[in-house]
Amino acid sequence: MQQAGIRAVESLMTPERRVCYDPLAVVFLDENLQRRYRLSLKNKFQRSLWIWSVRKDPGGTRAEGVARTRYIDDYSQACIKDGVEQVVILGAGFDSRAYRLKAFSKVKVFEVDHPNTQKTKAARLKTVLKEWPTWVTLVPVDFEKDRLDEKLLAAGYRRDLKTLFIWEGVTPYLTAEAVDRTLSLVVANSSPGSSIIFDYLHASAVDPGSKDKWAKALQTRCERLGEPIRFGIEGSEIETFLAARGFSQVKRVTASNLTELCFKGQNSKRQVCPFAEIVHATIGPPQ
Ligand SMILES: C[S@@+](CC[C@H](N)C(=O)[O-])C[C@H]1O[C@@H](n2cnc3c(N)ncnc32)[C@H](O)[C@@H]1O
Repeated sequence: MQQAGIRAVESLMTPERRVCYDPLAVVFLDENLQRRYRLSLKNKFQRSLWIWSVRKDPGGTRAEGVARTRYIDDYSQACIKDGVEQVVILGAGFDSRAYRLKAFSKVKVFEVDHPNTQKTKAARLKTVLKEWPTWVTLVPVDFEKDRLDEKLLAAGYRRDLKTLFIWEGVTPYLTAEAVDRTLSLVVANSSPGSSIIFDYLHASAVDPGSKDKWAKALQTRCERLGEPIRFGIEGSEIETFLAARGFSQVKRVTASNLTELCFKGQNSKRQVCPFAEIVHATIGPPQ
């Protein structure tokens, strides 16, 4: 099941049980899953069955999906409260933060994504939103071919504003060159005090020779979906990697940190897969 599906099923759980709440995720599902979602809202047995099957998650990749969304939701709202004026969501896909979190309506939001994904997203959202939010601008970009800075500036992005870049669920699908190019454009076009948050997989899990059976399962699933996994970096290297590219105040959030933060009480059996992490960092020298 893909990210929007995982977030939709999580949103069916009671407020005490769910880790993230994304009531818009359902609009991005295919017709069968949308039907199942509607049925689950009405029928407790169907709902429990679906939740149970998704929560089984022995490899922890679904737990990782909802935990990272929750962490980034909390982090981005805190940044906006602290004075961020502009948010750029890189590889936004079916991320619905800009539409479901009130804080985002106070800033300018640029959603950057592949033109094909963006067309589908806009069409689906228009079926449920009364009008297009004035604070959101869609910026079609292919990270492998286009200049991110040119596209963003043409869409109204301002280099002088304090900005947060969110890059969720994207780095594994890019080449190392595209990751580097994106990070250097982010640094070159941001004002002091701006920041970035993104998740990544360990290089050992991305390696086709990986011995980890859940990493292998993830690789096979992504390959089958036509989105092969390409980029990974070890957690122990992330601080040096980002410092060498112009970032400071690097905060690494490991899989165990995420598990501890998100999965307590009724959720204490859920665990984030050990090869996925989040990092956030300040752009430029320490503030
Ligand atoms: C797994 S989805 C994650 C989407 C969303 N951020 C989330 O967490 O739900 C990966 C996203 O990366 C985008 N992406 C992958 N390769 C890309 C490229 N070369 N240029 C632009 N976007 C790309 C896809 O369009 C997709 O929206």
